[in-house]
Amino acid sequence: MQALVLVGGKGTRLRPLTTEIPKPILTLVDRPFLSYMIEWLGSHGVDEVVLACGFLPDQLQEVLGNGDPGGPAIRYLVEPEPLGTGGAIKFALPELDERFFALNGDVLTDLDLSALWQSHLERGARASLGLYPVEDPTGYGLVDLAGDGRVLDFHEKPEPGHAGPGLINAGTYVLEKSAFEGVPDGCEVSIEREIFPGLVENGLFGLRLDGYWMDIGTPDRYLDASWDIIEGRVKSGVEGDSAGVHVDPGARISDDAVVGPRAVIAPGCQVGAGAEVTGSVLLDGCEIGENAVVSNSILSAGVRVSADAQVGDRVLGKKEVVNA
Ligand code: GDD
Ligand code: MG
Repeated sequence: MQALVLVGGKGTRLRPLTTEIPKPILTLVDRPFLSYMIEWLGSHGVDEVVLACGFLPDQLQEVLGNGDPGGPAIRYLVEPEPLGTGGAIKFALPELDERFFALNGDVLTDLDLSALWQSHLERGARASLGLYPVEDPTGYGLVDLAGDGRVLDFHEKPEPGHAGPGLINAGTYVLEKSAFEGVPDGCEVSIEREIFPGLVENGLFGLRLDGYWMDIGTPDRYLDASWDIIEGRVKSGVEGDSAGVHVDPGARISDDAVVGPRAVIAPGCQVGAGAEVTGSVLLDGCEIGENAVVSNSILSAGVRVSADAQVGDRVLGKKEVVNA
């Protein structure tokens, strides 16, 4: 089985974390973000992952290579220019089977993809959408579903007036190539705004899936996703810890430093005597001086926080220095 994963977005809302590192390979707890997705796809029988890249994928390729032994093989497709979510899939069609999974590449999830595939077959659908219930659907694609699973309406980014709980597009699809009939080649096309609405009453189905789901596109959600992984709320290969603390063995923490509740400390970090790190993620090689306090923050690789300095609710870019 094949899965096409859309990874062409710029990840602007996570800057400066994503200024130099593309969002798909940003470290989440202890591995590149996309590794969670690749593992999840593998667990549902996917043996080939095609990454649809809107930009040069050099860094992605360097980090993810051709995939891990025993896991799905990874291939890279680069659009001549970003073609949007629908255009990117259309561009990839020659490389894909008649029926395939397609995923937004920025969600952390353990939803039951096998159930989505099964329901797609049973209903004879052209496109099946995995759906997830949320309190506030603005910012997502809101789906109105009939009792038999037909999609009655697909409304991308509803205005706040639409507020109220609803089922949203989880960015997890099973698609038939035939869903792309009539979609022009080489044009920017949004699958959410241009293709799905056209498939309403014409082969578009949805299935509510239970489990964990989160779009990690903002710093708050990146932090929440980290705690959800460490505290075991999402199925992942990371070992859980009830205090939500993950310290790499290659980090040096002074005996009287306070780490957690909730902290990720990457390899090569140093936390000085009397320092406090809570609710924060420290990527590779950060240095926290004596008696410094870091809370609710994300520190890119190589950040230095001087002795006695305070860092609260910040997202710091690579090698930034914070003085007291
Ligand atoms: N290859 C490629 N080319 N990928 C792209 C392009 C492109 O031109 N544009 C966006 N992508 C990728 C992004 O990298 C991301 O993984 C995915 O497509 C979705 O784009 P986002 O920009 O993150 O969309 P969103 O989060 O605002 O909304 C989408 O996701 C929601 C769920 O998280 C929509 O699909 C909503 O309907 C959905 O609810
Ligand atoms: Mg997104």
